[in-house]
Amino acid sequence: MNKAEVKPKKILFVCLGNICRSPAAEGVFLDLLREQGAETHYEVDSAGTGGYHIGQLPDRRMRIHARQRGLDLTHHCRQVDTEDFEKFDLIIGMDASNLTNLRRMAPSIEAARKIHGMAEYFSPGARYDHVPDPYYEGAEGFELVLDLLQDGCRNLFTQLESEERD
Ligand code: 4NP
Repeated sequence: MNKAEVKPKKILFVCLGNICRSPAAEGVFLDLLREQGAETHYEVDSAGTGGYHIGQLPDRRMRIHARQRGLDLTHHCRQVDTEDFEKFDLIIGMDASNLTNLRRMAPSIEAARKIHGMAEYFSPGARYDHVPDPYYEGAEGFELVLDLLQDGCRNLFTQLESEERD
């Protein structure tokens, strides 16, 4: 099968509110795909385990910090759904609490195997083992989220592309 015939890999990024970390992860990964000319190889979305902000655009602070890195975050908040475990190949949670909630929701062992932590993709020597919730933090919290996501998404992309070649 040549590359054009390969089914797109479907990735869902998940955090609590779906207004800060996971829409930023979606935006960072999409930007990387555009840069690499790989948009057709993937479908990317994000969702929250909580349902406090359904329908909203990402938090204004997250959009401002992302914009400074050339990223437009246009996702509208939605909650994770059982059907997501069918639809997506990879479901990536930002922190331990997201992962616990996702594992509770997974309808089967096979579905639970799709769940991974974003920190699995951080470069060796990273100072964090999760993507910290920036909601009650200042500007540094949002910058840290973007730094971690830009590092992790690049490694995730490299890993997925190398699996595709195997
Ligand atoms: P996120 O951040 O999980 O990165 O989207 C949060 C956004 C909203 C809330 C908590 C975390 N909240 O409690 O409303």
